[in-house]
Amino acid sequence: MNTMAFKTLRALADGGFHSGEAIAQTLGVTRSAVWYGIRDIAGAGFQVEKVRGRGYRLSRPLSLLDAGAVSGLLGPQSATFVIEVIDSIDSTNTRLMQRAAAGAPSGLVLAAEAQTAGRGRRGRTWRSAVGSTLTFSLLWRFAQGARELAGLSLAVGLALARTLRAAGATGVALKWPNDVVLPSGKLSGILIEMQGDVLGPSAAVIGIGVNVCADSRVADQVDQPLTDLESATGNAVDRNALLARMLAELSCVLGSFAQNGFSPLRAEWQQLHAHQDRRVRLLLPDGESLAGIARGVADDGVLLLETAAGVQGFHSGELSLRGEIAP
Ligand code: BTN
Repeated sequence: MNTMAFKTLRALADGGFHSGEAIAQTLGVTRSAVWYGIRDIAGAGFQVEKVRGRGYRLSRPLSLLDAGAVSGLLGPQSATFVIEVIDSIDSTNTRLMQRAAAGAPSGLVLAAEAQTAGRGRRGRTWRSAVGSTLTFSLLWRFAQGARELAGLSLAVGLALARTLRAAGATGVALKWPNDVVLPSGKLSGILIEMQGDVLGPSAAVIGIGVNVCADSRVADQVDQPLTDLESATGNAVDRNALLARMLAELSCVLGSFAQNGFSPLRAEWQQLHAHQDRRVRLLLPDGESLAGIARGVADDGVLLLETAAGVQGFHSGELSLRGEIAP
C-alpha cells in the first residue's frame, strides 16, 4: 500500500462513516486522491462499505499504531524508548540493524504496519497483514559480548509469554528456542540478530511478530497452524496498548538479564515449556533427526535432550524442535 492508501486507512480506522469530501479536507488532498486511496485499501484486502449520503466505512474498526499513544501508555517508562512507527518497510530488523551499525541508541523501537520482506528464523519469510499483526524491532545494547548473551532469545520469549498471558491468553507456552504458542498454533515469533564485539560491547536487534487477529491474508500463506490473540482472549486487542505492555516487560526482563543472565529466569521458562519432559524429535540442520526427552534448558539457554547416550545440550539456531512423538 502506498502513502495515500495508509492515510486513507487511518482516516477510516475508527470504523465510522466518513464522506469522501471530509476525508479529502482532513488530509488536504483532492476527492480523486481519496478515491484512489479507497481503491488501494480495498485492493489490499480491507472491506470498505460505501453508503450513499453517508460515505465510506471499514467493515470493522482497526487499531493502527501510533507512537504518541504507545509513549503515553508507557508513562514514565517511555524515557527508556524512542518509538518510531512506519507505514511500510522491507523488514524492521533489517532497518534496525543498519541504524544500530550507524550508532542508534539502545531502546530504539521500529514498529511497522506492513513489512514487504519480513524475516523469520532459519531464513524463513515472516508474513503479516496491516492491522492484524504487531511487528516491531527493539534495539538493546549490552556491555557483554554475544557469547555471554546466549540465553537472550529465551529471556525475550519469556517476556512475550508474560505479556500475552497478562493480556488474557490462556495456555500460553514456549517452544524452544522462543516461539510463543497456544495449543491451537503459533501466536508469536522472535528473530534476534546481534552485532558488536564477541567480548563486548554488543547490540541486539530483537524482532517480534505477534498475530493479533485472524487474517486469511496471512493464514493462507503460512504452512503451519497459526493462532491469534483476539481468538485466544475473545476480546478486541488495542495494538498500541499491547506494544506498550510488551516494551515495559521487555525492559524489565532485559534489565534483569543484563545483570544476572538467564539463570534466574530459567525455572519460569521451564514451567512454560511446551515440551517439558515430553518425548520429542529434534531436526538437525543436516537433515538428520534425534529422538529423546526434552529436559528443559541450561543456564546458557541450550536445550537439554535426554537420549540413550545421556543428556546432551543443543544450541538455538542449529536445530528445530518438532512435536511430540508416540512413546
Ligand atoms: C520466527 O518465528 O521465525 C521469527 C519471526 C520474527 C518476525 C519479526 S516481525 C518484526 C521483525 N522484522 C522482521 O523482519 N522479522 C521480525
